[in-house]
This record gives sequence, structure tokens and C-alpha cells, in this order.
Amino acid sequence: MIFRNKRSSIKKTNILSQDELIKHYGINSYEFTHQEKKEIFVCSKVKEFDLIELDQLLQTVGWSRRPIRRVKRALEFSILVVGLWRHDEKFPRLVGFARCTGDGIIEATIWDVAINPVYQGLGLGKELMKYILQELKKIGISKVTLFADAEVVSFYKRQGWELEPKGSKCAFWYAN
Ligand SMILES: CC(C)(COP(=O)(O)OP(=O)(O)OC[C@H]1O[C@@H](n2cnc3c(N)ncnc32)[C@H](O)[C@@H]1OP(=O)(O)O)[C@@H](O)C(=O)NCCC(=O)NCCS
Repeated sequence: MIFRNKRSSIKKTNILSQDELIKHYGINSYEFTHQEKKEIFVCSKVKEFDLIELDQLLQTVGWSRRPIRRVKRALEFSILVVGLWRHDEKFPRLVGFARCTGDGIIEATIWDVAINPVYQGLGLGKELMKYILQELKKIGISKVTLFADAEVVSFYKRQGWELEPKGSKCAFWYAN
């Protein structure tokens, strides 16, 4: 076991064997635990989603429902889709999610970062973000953007994200 940093209650673990990890979550998945929770969590960009379970997760954070068929297409067109699972050999539970769109070469935008409220405040969101940035870096993407609601801006700022200065560079267009 490796402590990631002295103040963090998150530990990178190798409780699951490499074979088990790959079998359940696919290659390049990342396993860690929380000191108090005593549960194993895994970030995976490979493990397939049950779209109903994903829909339920996104509802737990209060987001409005989107048609499953459109979500399925959106995931297919995303360049990176990451699930954060609470490990269970038979019934792993999806407790976190995020996805990225982009050209796959130069730029990416992160969307839909969500942690089930039951598991918020444990450091999972931070681990999920680290995993995403690491995976984007692996494919050579160095410019990453995201849009944050006002109440979560400091979640990102704490992790080194810079706010777009004074709204002078960003433009939006909505169809309706
Ligand atoms: C935002 C969210 C992903 C954070 O996940 P989380 O697992 O609760 O966050 P963590 O426990 O990893 O917190 C990491 C750090 O950010 C801080 N933090 C967490 N949520 C925060 C928030 N809403 N505002 C400010 N800081 C926050 C924590 O205190 C912690 O600080 P520390 O590193 O100094 O200890 C989660 O609260 C969530 O899913 N919210 C609802 C959906 C949402 O708004 N998503 C963002 C879309 S832009």
C-alpha cells in the first residue's frame, strides 16, 4: 500500500490482484481506498455502464433526466468516459462519473463530473479528476477545459484549475 500524501485519507491500494482488477474493470484502472470507509473504489475508463444505473447516479446529484438513447450516443461520441465504482466482486456500484469530449489529440472538455452524495466529501471527486487528467495526458492532450457551476468552482480551484479571466474569452451559443 502506498500513501498518496500524509494529509489525505485516500490510499492507493493493491488489494485486488492485477488479474482481478483487469478482469472486473479493464486495463489501466486505478484502485484506491478510504481509510475510514474500508471500501475499495476503482476508476475505470473501460468498464461498461448500465445506463439505468448511470441515470440514477446523475439523478442523485439533482440533474434533470436525459433520454437514455441520447446519453448512449453521447457516451459513444465522448473521447473518455470514466466510472468510479465501489468494488464488489458480484455487484460493483457506480458511485462516480465523468466524461470528456474533444478532438482526441489537442483539446478536451470535461463534462458531467458527479459523485453520489453518500460518497461526497471523502476525496473521491479529487481522485476521479486526477485519473481523468492522467488519462488525457497519456493520449497527449494538454489543454483541458470545463464549465463549473458557481457552487463548485472552488472544488476545481483547489486542484489547480484557473478561472477564465473576467469572462473575456468565453462565448456561448444556445439553440433555444
Ligand atoms: C463537486 C463534486 C464532484 C465533488 O466531489 P467530492 O467527492 O465530494 O469531492 P472531494 O471529497 O474529492 O473534495 C476534494 C476537495 O474539494 C473540496 N470540495 C468538495 N466539494 C466542494 C464544493 N462543492 N465546493 C467547494 N469545495 C469542495 C473538499 O472540501 C476537498 O477539499 P480538500 O482537498 O482541501 O480536502 C461532488 O460534490 C458532486 O458530485 N457534486 C454534484 C454534481 C456537481 O455539481 N458536479 C460538478 C459539475 S461542474
